[in-house]
Amino acid sequence: MQKTLVIIKPDATPRRLIGKIISRFEEKGLEIVGLKMNVISEEQARENYSVHEGRDYYEKLIDYITAGPVVFMILRGKNAIDVTRMLMGSTFGHEAAPGTIRGDYAISKRFNLLHGSDSVESAEKEIAIFFKDEEIIEHDQTNLKWIYDISGDEPNGTFI
Ligand code: TYD
Ligand code: MG
Repeated sequence: MQKTLVIIKPDATPRRLIGKIISRFEEKGLEIVGLKMNVISEEQARENYSVHEGRDYYEKLIDYITAGPVVFMILRGKNAIDVTRMLMGSTFGHEAAPGTIRGDYAISKRFNLLHGSDSVESAEKEIAIFFKDEEIIEHDQTNLKWIYDISGDEPNGTFI
């Protein structure tokens, strides 16, 4: 099952949106397998956003993501990366569709409440920046019984 990293960004904390944002992912059926709060260091921020280095918004993005407490969350599930990004909505709050997290709670271009990994490679890289292996929790898989059909007799995989 795929894992992805979500960061609930520093604008969400003072706006008291942490609980609502976590709920969106839980209600969808994604499993939380890592969860903690901290302030991102400048070094971690630059590593996480290294592909954006040189862009005109890069320094502002580093200032923003290091400006206050954030929540880190590892989500696991079928197509977790794409499902997470669909729930987040498109990057700029003013363009994001209603019903998505950004669409419902953000209007700014930059203060867009959360980060989600965009590929398997970035998910692996980003999880390793913010979590130690022992902070990723193995759950009892029986809870998945009514989230997916795991009876195992389908031709296209076991999580249907
Ligand atoms: P990006 O990876 O393109 O978006 P997403 O968060 O949806 O994966 O950009 C990373 C962050 O950089 C984005 O969340 C907000 C900020 N950003 C700007 O401030 N200005 C911009 O023009 C862009 C493209 C991004
Ligand atoms: Mg991105």
